[in-house]
Amino acid sequence: MQARLVDTAPEKVEADALILPVFEGEKAVPAEAAALDKKLKGTIAELLKGDGFKGKFMELVPVHNLASVPSRWTVLAGVGKREHLDMVRLRNVLQAAGRTLRKRGTRSIAVIVPTGVARQGSGADVARAVTEGIGLGNFEAASLKTRPDRTVGRIGSLEIIGLNGQKAAASAVKDSLALTDATNRIREWINLPANAFTPTVFVEKVKEATKGSGLDLKVLELDDMKRLKMGALLAVARGSEEPAKMIVLRYGGGKKGGPTLALVGKGITFDSGGISIKPAQHMEMMKSDMGGGAAVVGAMLAIAALKPKINVLAVVPTTENMPSGKAIKPGDVVTGSGGKTIEIINTDAEGRLILSDGITYAVNEGATHIVDIATLTGSIARTLGPLAIGAFSNDPPLMTLVSEAADLAGERVWELPTWADYDGLIDSDIADIKNSTVPWAGATTAALFLREFVDGRPWVHLDIAGSAWQDASELKTVPKGPTGSGVRLMAHLAQLLADR
Ligand code: BES
Ligand code: MN
Ligand code: ZN
Repeated sequence: MQARLVDTAPEKVEADALILPVFEGEKAVPAEAAALDKKLKGTIAELLKGDGFKGKFMELVPVHNLASVPSRWTVLAGVGKREHLDMVRLRNVLQAAGRTLRKRGTRSIAVIVPTGVARQGSGADVARAVTEGIGLGNFEAASLKTRPDRTVGRIGSLEIIGLNGQKAAASAVKDSLALTDATNRIREWINLPANAFTPTVFVEKVKEATKGSGLDLKVLELDDMKRLKMGALLAVARGSEEPAKMIVLRYGGGKKGGPTLALVGKGITFDSGGISIKPAQHMEMMKSDMGGGAAVVGAMLAIAALKPKINVLAVVPTTENMPSGKAIKPGDVVTGSGGKTIEIINTDAEGRLILSDGITYAVNEGATHIVDIATLTGSIARTLGPLAIGAFSNDPPLMTLVSEAADLAGERVWELPTWADYDGLIDSDIADIKNSTVPWAGATTAALFLREFVDGRPWVHLDIAGSAWQDASELKTVPKGPTGSGVRLMAHLAQLLADR
């Protein structure tokens, strides 16, 4: 998709669809669309005055322009109440609108940014929300249907009216295009079934995606893991016929010896639960348990395009979690690469096991800041639902940067506590720590476990078990399926750390 800021008036712009965001309860035509409405013989005014359109969040009403202006349709897009509109919601409205229009054959879109909407953020904030909203709406799940719907195409061009002349907004548009490309690319991977996306395929996809990007790729094989004594990752991998891999990507934008941000992502390509097997219902969703690992790769692709002046190390341990005669058993004790002994209470708490060796690897490679991201616990999904990432940290300044990055990315993050009062939750009678415990504070328990491996370095843990996949039809948010949660956030974080 191409996108740019233009100073063409709405009534002069040439596009398949002209989107006009309108607040709920707004009865007057926004000044920016007055001339357009005149050409349309007052149709917009008529709709806003009557019951035809209320501006409710996600409400879409198309008006055919009947050759009165160069654009074919004017689409009124409800953005809800003014006091509720933030950049996340604006993105989501435009993502839904873009998706709906594209399915009806729209290939070019112009978005009018009325002053009222523009005031809800900076010019750059709005530019990002518009570009990413329409860009993310371009995602179409790779279908394995033998007779795909060939009429479904993509939006090829986006023009944004109302922000022209704002330098920061123009450069935000460019960055947003790179961010959406990276996000959509890995949404595809998360959507693929586990038989078409094994750890071996994951490596192949990363090879393909990073070719010519300037990123340095290294893949650790089982022998390397054995040499490095990655007992926790190997323990999870034991039950599967598919060989585990550890994907390591490096981006060297900073000074030698300068800060190195490590991004560590969980790459479980299928989580059956292992011997502590999961119930059959919804188990098919566990093909998406590599969402954190995919997000890390997506962030690296975006970082390679945005070129922040910082070093970034990506580590993605990837394996299946399967039951078999060789699989680890509850009660087994394994030793991670950092030397800590771990009692495995539940083989379904596998994410923290593979991440622990990933984090240790990052520490040994000189990480100065660590962010891990994982579809880690049902607990966070029950708490926050699909709308937000749950965060845990040992370092308020890094957590603050993560929140700022989330705001720039239009992703919601909510921090949860790691008070010392929780200490003891992962104490084991037989080993240094155990991987699971009481039936409450599940997301916190997982975070405390991971914290054991960060060597006291500034660290933020992102639990995306809820946000990686959207399937709540009750919620008027992003469409069903993989969201690409965390990609944009981590890329912005690298930029913020570089600028500090
Ligand atoms: N991959 C799951 C977490 C998950 C659940 C992700 C639902 C997405 C949707 C993880 O490996 C897991 O099984 N966690 C267990 C841990 C428990 C056994 C301590 C959980 O949260 O129930
Ligand atoms: Mn599990
Ligand atoms: Zn899992």
